[in-house]
Amino acid sequence: MMTWESLDWEALDRLRAGFLSGTAIEGPYWKSRSDLEVYDLTYAERIGWKWDAVLRELRLRDFKLEPVNGRKLRALDWGCGSGVAGRRVIDAWGESTFERFSVFDHSSLAQDFARDRARIAFPHLKTDIWTEAENSEVIDVLIVSHVLNELSERVAGLLRAQMLRSRYILWVEPGTHGVSRQLQQWRDDFRPHFHVVAPCTHTAPCGLRAPGNEQHWCHHFAPAPSGVFSDRNWVKFGQRAGIDLRSLPYSFLVLAPLEGSMKQGANSRVIGRPQHFKPYARVLNCDAEGVCELNVTKRTTPALFKHLDKTRDPLLYTWSHDHQQVIQGHPYPEKSSSV
Ligand SMILES: C[S@@+](CC[C@H](N)C(=O)[O-])C[C@H]1O[C@@H](n2cnc3c(N)ncnc32)[C@H](O)[C@@H]1O
Repeated sequence: MMTWESLDWEALDRLRAGFLSGTAIEGPYWKSRSDLEVYDLTYAERIGWKWDAVLRELRLRDFKLEPVNGRKLRALDWGCGSGVAGRRVIDAWGESTFERFSVFDHSSLAQDFARDRARIAFPHLKTDIWTEAENSEVIDVLIVSHVLNELSERVAGLLRAQMLRSRYILWVEPGTHGVSRQLQQWRDDFRPHFHVVAPCTHTAPCGLRAPGNEQHWCHHFAPAPSGVFSDRNWVKFGQRAGIDLRSLPYSFLVLAPLEGSMKQGANSRVIGRPQHFKPYARVLNCDAEGVCELNVTKRTTPALFKHLDKTRDPLLYTWSHDHQQVIQGHPYPEKSSSV
């Protein structure tokens, strides 16, 4: 069992170099079970924090996975790696929500590892490896995490086909410009087939894909667990791996069946981080009308101004604006009276 004391730095450095250089697209790169163990303890756990933020947002939005005819759900973690994403999702709804949880990866080492870890985590859930032969079956919950920049055109086509055979899609990726803009494209491609639940507050075409917005990308920041900064293992890991543990940029996409019922939620989402100036904050705002910069001033909307500075929640708001200024509104979900 891998521990912080026995971290295999050679493996971590090799994996990271592969992720960053783009060579991961060339084929399976997991060389041993120990590669997956060290990844699961470190990089995957950090990915888990992004999933925690997404799952928390789904709870805030009162999002539900609706069963069909009362039967339990079938979930698939596609490109599972060590399986962190699938485990976070099953854990969020509880293993009794699911009838079966499958994992899939083009690395058999990864598939075995993810299945074994899931069996330990969820002893009462049927957990197995998904095979291509099953690809005509409907998946209720398709889980995809950090795979987009490893897919050839052909494999992307297979994933697209799987998405069309799935009911819900929960997908998290890094918050880089390139990957996030690719995800925006997938979002718009699948818009005719699904209800877009998140990150958007609307189902109109993605405003960031409108001409003139090429420099922006739909990304958000997840909070790291508070204990991390005083945990000497994580601090050492961050320094050695050259990772800023405070900054967890991610992009994501949640799709649901068109026929399901959707709750009316926030009308706006702030993209990226607000910029804070003394009398106001400037935000990149996304709503059904498109994407534009807005100012939230301390004088007109003091509670919103303060909220933008302090909150660790997703930056969802129900507000109205006049030209470039927010004139009234509240964070979503609303906790106190309108400001
Ligand atoms: C960066 S890892 C992410 C793993 C995991 N989903 C996570 O979030 O930690 C990308 C994973 O995608 C898998 N992968 C890449 N290309 C694939 C393909 N053509 N078919 C299936 N899995 C693939 C890799 O083997 C690897 O496990």
